[in-house]
Amino acid sequence: MKVSPSLLSANFANLLPELEMINRSNADYLHLDVMDGVFVSNISFGFPVMKAVSKVCTKPLDVHLMIVEPDKWISQVRDLGAEIMNVHQEACPHLHSVVQRIHNAGMKAGVTINPATPVATLVDIVEDVDLILIMSVNPGFGGQPFIEHSVKKVRELRALIDSTDSHALIEVDGGVNDRTGALLAEAGADILVAGSYVFGAENPEAAIDSLAVL
Ligand code: DX5
Ligand code: ZN
Repeated sequence: MKVSPSLLSANFANLLPELEMINRSNADYLHLDVMDGVFVSNISFGFPVMKAVSKVCTKPLDVHLMIVEPDKWISQVRDLGAEIMNVHQEACPHLHSVVQRIHNAGMKAGVTINPATPVATLVDIVEDVDLILIMSVNPGFGGQPFIEHSVKKVRELRALIDSTDSHALIEVDGGVNDRTGALLAEAGADILVAGSYVFGAENPEAAIDSLAVL
């Protein structure tokens, strides 16, 4: 299992040791959650903070934009050196065009769906993306309980991907820990995002390892 720790639960007053821990760890990515107070009812951090983070972090950046009109920021995300740019399906009326533009900028394109958005809405985009991110909590805050129904959605998405020419990876975000991670692994997830489970742990590197072995 690939692991993408979410910086949202890190100590913002002292990020350097948190980033050094990520660099040392077996994490595959660093997940960066951008919120605008409009698409979700919270504001996290923006480009100046991510720029500073990108200079220290040696892991590929997995940027999750919980903002309206995410396509306005493609070149700024590219300038961070991000590997993956995730946009919400619910925020993009012209999703296919946004995916094309993310690819043209040289990044992997991820499409994210909220808990109430059916997997079936991905049928006409799944072959064009590199990743689908299933939200297993309502976006906006770390530390929320896992929505159990998400396991069914992962299983459904796995079946959809396997029945098409899609090469999309399945990423899951929200309420991930060793218990829910095991359920998601069994259902066919490829990447687990974890915020509070990693940064709230006594031994964050061991918490990352406990997901990596799933
Ligand atoms: C929530 C964010 C998540 C968040 C997950 O809107 O997208 O990435 O950091 O936090 P946990 O793992 O604590 O649920
Ligand atoms: Zn996220």
